[in-house]
Amino acid sequence: MKTIAVTIVLLGMLIVSSRAQGPQPDKADFPDDFLWGVASAAYQVEGAYQADGKGESKWDFFTNTIGVTQFTIGEKQTANVTINQYDREQYLRDIQLMKELGINTYRFSIPWSRIIPQGVGEVNTKAIAHYHLLIQDLKEAGIEPLVTLYHFDLPLALLQKGGWLNRESVQWYKNYAKVIFENFGNEVRHFITFNEPYIEFFVADFMMNPSQSKESGNVRYAKEMDNVNHQLLASAEAIKLYHEMNLKGKIGITFNLSPCLPFDAGNPEDVEAVSLQDELLNRIVLDPVFKGKYPKNALAAIQKYNPGFQPSAEDLQLILNNQPDFLGINFYAPAQVKKDDGAPLGVSWMGNNTDAVKMANGPVRPEELYNLLMRIKNEYGDPEIIITENGASFENDEDKVVDGKVNDMTRTDYIQRHIAAAEKAVKDGVKLKGYFVWSGWDNFEWIFGYTIRFGLIHVNFETQERVPKSSYYWYQHFLND
Ligand code: NOJ
Repeated sequence: MKTIAVTIVLLGMLIVSSRAQGPQPDKADFPDDFLWGVASAAYQVEGAYQADGKGESKWDFFTNTIGVTQFTIGEKQTANVTINQYDREQYLRDIQLMKELGINTYRFSIPWSRIIPQGVGEVNTKAIAHYHLLIQDLKEAGIEPLVTLYHFDLPLALLQKGGWLNRESVQWYKNYAKVIFENFGNEVRHFITFNEPYIEFFVADFMMNPSQSKESGNVRYAKEMDNVNHQLLASAEAIKLYHEMNLKGKIGITFNLSPCLPFDAGNPEDVEAVSLQDELLNRIVLDPVFKGKYPKNALAAIQKYNPGFQPSAEDLQLILNNQPDFLGINFYAPAQVKKDDGAPLGVSWMGNNTDAVKMANGPVRPEELYNLLMRIKNEYGDPEIIITENGASFENDEDKVVDGKVNDMTRTDYIQRHIAAAEKAVKDGVKLKGYFVWSGWDNFEWIFGYTIRFGLIHVNFETQERVPKSSYYWYQHFLND
């Protein structure tokens, strides 16, 4: 093991010497108790989709029946195996790689369908035992767990009862959260209630629920807002419960936030579209949580197609009264916004990207991370913030293994520049408490299957072989020097 570690460090130094240009952030500028980590989500990394009495989740169902063919050109890809991280031998090797990387925290999610296979009812003690052991193994390596309770993977049994459209989902989730807090509340110091409310629906539900496809895009989009409202309520109930249980850690919620810029700054229509898009992407979750109301124009646009969307004053009060202890932010890119009559509610952002080398999640603009952090500080009451995801996948060849190495210099440059942007925000007073790269390993990227890679560590999906990339060595160098 020692030889491997030394080789990794030496190799790292070699690669780092050719590292990306640009601002070199200094770890010393961040607080001493800062959480440095990598992130993952259960469905994307665990595999073992039927092990230890696991119930079926909507993603198990989706990938094994409908498939993700639209995006993987005829292949039906599943995460039945993915990068095999439910397996203890495998995850111990992965913990070793995290230890050598020098991070102090691992963000992962626990799947509801393992803990309560039918969503409500019987608790699966084998799964509980598995996560106790994982947490213990992480701690022995000096790595703290940061646990997401829900990362897109609703138990199928609950989807069949209407899923998040059913208001009972708030109680189902509260019950699941209670099981998690009772079992892990003393071992885990950071919980996240939800990862990215609404992205789950826009990306997947349109394809998974064919009966909706007959409705217009506007109506579908507007209806998804009922799901979002229920998730915000469920999150508030879980936060309330966590605080009532007097547990010693912190609980937050993670939003994907994308500063909105006009696609064409010279086009007045695009410029005008920015404000509505910002309400629909960012303020739609930030405003209820931190201000107790939904933003006006987004609300009107949604109610036009979904008149039933009428969050009550009591609901909004519950959300406002139970604010997260920290705001988790997943930041990848700003949204380049177009007025677009073909898109839901007349504005579009997905797929608009003017960069020459395209990144999967949008254009590369590290300064927008800085602007976003300052905006949250100034407009949303200066909350504690953790960057729960930041990372990149580029449409270039850099993720190929060549002579046993993966020279992902575009990703390395991206991470370096975003940490530098975070550093600047810390210097300007943002209460930033952590930073997590998405992801530790290449893994199953939802509707894109295995066709795009985000890892610091390359994974051969056939053999499960891991090869740390240049970005891994850069991060290691940054964390350890
Ligand atoms: C955000 C999601 O939380 C994660 O599951 C996904 O893989 C990354 N973005 C990359 O797109």
